[in-house]
Amino acid sequence: MQYRPLGRTDLNVSAIALGCWAFGGGPYWGDRDEQLSEQTIRTAFEVGINFFDTAEGYGNGHSEVVLGRALGVRRPQAVIATKVSADHLGREDLIRACEGSLRRLGTDYIDLYQIHWPSRTVPLEETMAAMQTLLEQGKVRAVGVSNFGVHDLSEALRWGRVECNQLPYSLLWRAIEYEIGNACFANEVGMLCYSPLAQGLLTGRWHSADEVPSGRAVTRIYSCEREGVRHGQEGAEEEVFQALAEIDAIADELAVPMANLAVAWLLHQPCVTSVLAGAGNPAQLRINAQAADLKLDDGVVQRLSAATEAVKAKIGPNPDMWQAESRYR
Ligand SMILES: NC(=O)c1ccc[n+]([C@@H]2O[C@H](COP(=O)([O-])OP(=O)(O)OC[C@H]3O[C@@H](n4cnc5c(N)ncnc54)[C@H](OP(=O)(O)O)[C@@H]3O)[C@@H](O)[C@H]2O)c1
Repeated sequence: MQYRPLGRTDLNVSAIALGCWAFGGGPYWGDRDEQLSEQTIRTAFEVGINFFDTAEGYGNGHSEVVLGRALGVRRPQAVIATKVSADHLGREDLIRACEGSLRRLGTDYIDLYQIHWPSRTVPLEETMAAMQTLLEQGKVRAVGVSNFGVHDLSEALRWGRVECNQLPYSLLWRAIEYEIGNACFANEVGMLCYSPLAQGLLTGRWHSADEVPSGRAVTRIYSCEREGVRHGQEGAEEEVFQALAEIDAIADELAVPMANLAVAWLLHQPCVTSVLAGAGNPAQLRINAQAADLKLDDGVVQRLSAATEAVKAKIGPNPDMWQAESRYR
């Protein structure tokens, strides 16, 4: 496993983190086997993963409960990242939300506390000042943001240090390459890449969009004719499955799982601190963790990028995975 510094902090995080959203269950991910979730979390340590990402919003806090329970006495060895929801960014709400996360996680500090989505009603000055209080109280060790575009990031940086920006980034979701990726680089803000496997597509387990579980086939990759989609756009299903066939051929040639190639490609991009990969069971986690040791030569990186250019063009510069009217500013 590789380890990388988190922003300008002295925290060293694994280049592959375990994304814990799915452990919260709910309509997006369906019912989960909790014992299997806890086993998956504990397996992380065996493969060198020390970084875990969750949020108060995942399964109404249930993902935090599962994470805290699974870590148990090993909590000090973990770097826990959690997030406060966009409707809790006023001073009192944020402090209360932090207490709730601490309680559910069963800990007295959060390593990285992130603003999940920007608020359009509470000024960032107020939110960042409340974050500063939590830093001073030792309840939070570092502050991060998520889904912040160029304007929001520069506004947050006016009021305090931000160590990282958590953004959707994968071979099939490259919208951040147009603008916000460069702003992170320029400000020494690390990127944490979410949905790096395009929620399972980049593992090669589905060969057409019809095979993807319906609750999950709702991003702007999929056609608006699918159930639960709220973007009203055509999607990019044809381009995506064409790209997946090309990526699969490269994976075959190199004799590595497609999931490894997808994660390794991200680790070869500038400004990426860590890739937050979800895993439904220990076997998936073990496969995903191997990507940290996969060195790709420049030619392979370029071939993978070329294979997904048509998807990148079709999705365009809006990083919002779910809405046509971007929530990024
Ligand atoms: N900040 C934000 O707004 C935001 C948004 C989205 C995600 N995130 C974070 O990023 C993390 C990861 O993103 P994500 O969960 O959306 O998507 P992802 O990591 O792209 O995909 C995770 C899912 O892919 C499947 N999978 C993973 N490894 C596999 C393998 N080796 N073989 C076959 N299938 C495999 C599993 O599905 P099954 O469980 O069905 O097997 C797993 O739950 C989240 O858990 C969360 O921490 C943050």
